[in-house]
Amino acid sequence: TLPQRVRLVEMAPRDGLQNEPGEVVATDIKIELIERLARAGLTHIEATSFVSPKWVPQMGDAREVMAGLQRAPNVTYSALTPNLKGLENALEARVSQVAVFAAASEAFSKKNINCSIDESLARFEPMMARAFDAKVRVRGYVSCVLGCPYEGEITPRQVARVAKALYEMGCFEVSLGDTIGVGTPLAARRMIDEVARVVPVEHLAAHFHDTYGMAIANLFAVLEQGVAVIDASTGGLGGCPYAKGASGNVAMEDVLYLLEGLGIETGVDLAAVVETGEWISGKLGRESASRVARAMSAR
Ligand code: HMG
Ligand code: MG
Repeated sequence: TLPQRVRLVEMAPRDGLQNEPGEVVATDIKIELIERLARAGLTHIEATSFVSPKWVPQMGDAREVMAGLQRAPNVTYSALTPNLKGLENALEARVSQVAVFAAASEAFSKKNINCSIDESLARFEPMMARAFDAKVRVRGYVSCVLGCPYEGEITPRQVARVAKALYEMGCFEVSLGDTIGVGTPLAARRMIDEVARVVPVEHLAAHFHDTYGMAIANLFAVLEQGVAVIDASTGGLGGCPYAKGASGNVAMEDVLYLLEGLGIETGVDLAAVVETGEWISGKLGRESASRVARAMSAR
C-alpha cells in the first residue's frame, strides 16, 4: 500500500551542483537557490558538503553558503560530512543535520572517499558520538545500491550489510542511492525487501538518479513497499563526480507530479518548484532535465 504522505529531501544545491562542470557556481546563486526552494515548501534541503575542496571544488564554499543563508524556521539544512574534520566544520557553520556516506561497492568507496567500506564505517563511529553530543542528527547514505560503475552488479545483501551498520551506529535514516541510475523496478523492490529486514522501512529513503530514465518507475515500486522519504533534485540537476556518466537525481518536479497523481501529500508547491528549476537551469545555461517542468513551462 502507498504511504499517505511523503517527505521530500531536496538535493539540487548539493548533489546537483557538486557535479557542475566548468566554473564554480557563485555562492550567491547557491544561496538564492536554497532560499527559493525553502519558499516553495521544501522543508529538508541538503545545502552543501564539507568535503575536501581538492576532491570537489564546487563545494569549496560550504562555510560561506551556510553563513549567507537566511534560514527559514521550519527548514532543516543538512550537509555531507566525510570525516571528523568535515563534521567539525559543519557544526561550526551551524548546519541542522549532517550526513555520512558509505557505499555498497568497495571500488566505489575507494574512488569516492579514498578508503574501504569497513574503514569508512570505522571512521563514522567517532563522528556519531560527536554529532550526538552536539545534538545534531546524522543521516547515512549507501551508494551503488543497484549497481556500481566499476564493479557492475551489486547484491541486495551487500547493500543490507552497509545499511544495517549505518543504522546500528545511530543514523536516524538510511538513504539508498542508485548512484548511476541503472536500476529497474523489480531490482529496486528486491533490494528494499532485503534492506527492510535489517532497517525498518520507515527509516529508509530512496535516492535514485535518473540516468536511464527509470527513477520514476523505481520510485513507484518502492512507494508500494512503504518507502516514504524521497530524495530528488529540482531541475534534475546533478550527478556524482566519482561516477562517470551519471546524470542527476530524479527531478523534484517529476516526483511531485507523480505524488500528486497518486494523491500523496507533500506540502510542496509544484508550480513554485518548476519556476525555481527554470531559474537555476537558466543560470547554468541549460534546459531543465525535468520532463514535467518542460511540459508545464510550454503550456
Ligand atoms: P583523502 O585525500 O584520503 O584525505 O580524502 P586526507 O585526510 O588525506 O586529506 C587530504 C587533504 O584534504 C588534506 O589537506 C586535508 O586537510 C583535507 P592538505 O593537508 O593536503 O592541504 N581534508 C579536508 N578539507 C576540508 N574538509 C574536509 C577534509 N578532509 C580532509 N572534510 C576525503 C578523503 C574523504 C576527505 C575525500 O575523499 C573527500 O572529500 N571525498 C568526498 C567526495 C565527495 O564529496 N563525493 C560526492 C558526494 S557522495 C555522492 O554524491 C553520493 C550520494 O549522492 C548518494 C548516491 O547518489 O549514491 C551521497
Ligand atoms: Mg547522489
